[in-house]
Amino acid sequence: MTARIIDGKIIAAELRARVADEVARVQREHQLTPGLAVVLVGSDPASEVYVRSKHKQTQAAGMASFEHKLPADVAESDLLALIAKLNRDPAVHGILVQLPLPKSLNTETIINAIDPAKDVDGLHPNNAGRLAGGSAALSPCTPLGCIILTKSVHASLEGMNAIVIGRSNLVGRPLVQLLLNENATVTIAHSRSRELAQLCARADLVYAAVGKPEMVRGAWIKPGATVIDVGINRLQEADGKTRLVGDVAFQEALNVAGAITPVPGGVGQMTVACLLVNTLRAACAIRG
Ligand code: GUN
Repeated sequence: MTARIIDGKIIAAELRARVADEVARVQREHQLTPGLAVVLVGSDPASEVYVRSKHKQTQAAGMASFEHKLPADVAESDLLALIAKLNRDPAVHGILVQLPLPKSLNTETIINAIDPAKDVDGLHPNNAGRLAGGSAALSPCTPLGCIILTKSVHASLEGMNAIVIGRSNLVGRPLVQLLLNENATVTIAHSRSRELAQLCARADLVYAAVGKPEMVRGAWIKPGATVIDVGINRLQEADGKTRLVGDVAFQEALNVAGAITPVPGGVGQMTVACLLVNTLRAACAIRG
C-alpha cells in the first residue's frame, strides 16, 4: 500500500483564497482592512525567508502588512516600546515577533508585552491558558495547520488515538490541546520518552515535531495511520548539497501509512495561511 500524500500546497492555497474573499467582504461591508505587523530582530537567514513569505502572502490576501526590522543588538526597552506602539495602532490587528530571538532578549518578556487580542501567534499566556481551558481565541498557527491537514483526511477525530512527539510551546503543547478539543485521545511524547516505537504503533494519528531528522521510522507506524510531519531539517549530503527532510523517514513511512504530509510541501505551507486566518479573526474581534 502506498500512502495518500496530503498536499499542503493545495490546502494552504484554498485557505488563503477563502481568507482573501473574506477580507474583501469585510472591506466592502465594514471598511475594515486587517493589518499584520511582523517584527524581525537580527538577520537569521531562515527567519528572513519566513518574514518575506509572510509579507507577500499578507499583501496577496488584501491585508495591510507592516514589517519592522531591528538590529540583533537592539535594547529590550526599544523592542518593548515598538510593541507598545503596535498595541496602540488601530491599523494593526495582528502582531508577530519572529522567533527565535537573539539570546540577549528575554522571549517570555517580549511575548507577554503583546496585546493578547493582537497575539496572532497564540503564544501569550492568556491565549495559551484559554486554549488549555478549551476556549481558544487565537491558537498557534502551525498546530492549527496540522489539524486542518488531518481533517482533510478524517472529517472527525473523535475517539482516535493520536501521538504528539514534541512538547514545544510553539507546536507540541498547543497541538495536544487542539487535539483534545477535537475529542481525540492524546499521548504526549518527546525526545526522552521510552519505547517510542511501541507508543507510535498504537496511534491512528502521528504528529512528529521533535526537530530530529527522520527519527520516526516506517516500522513504528500503524498500517493505515495518518502521519503529519512538522519537522524541517537541513541535511548536508556527501556532495555538499543540502536536502530538506522531516522528522519522519518519509520513504519508509510511505509504504505503511494511510496518508502522510511531505517535507517540503506539507505543514510548512499551512503556517502562514493560518497566520492570515488569525489576523482576519483578530481584526473582526477587535472591531466587535
Ligand atoms: N519561527 C518559526 N515558526 C514560527 C512561528 O510560528 N511564529 C513565530 N513567531 N516565529 C516562528
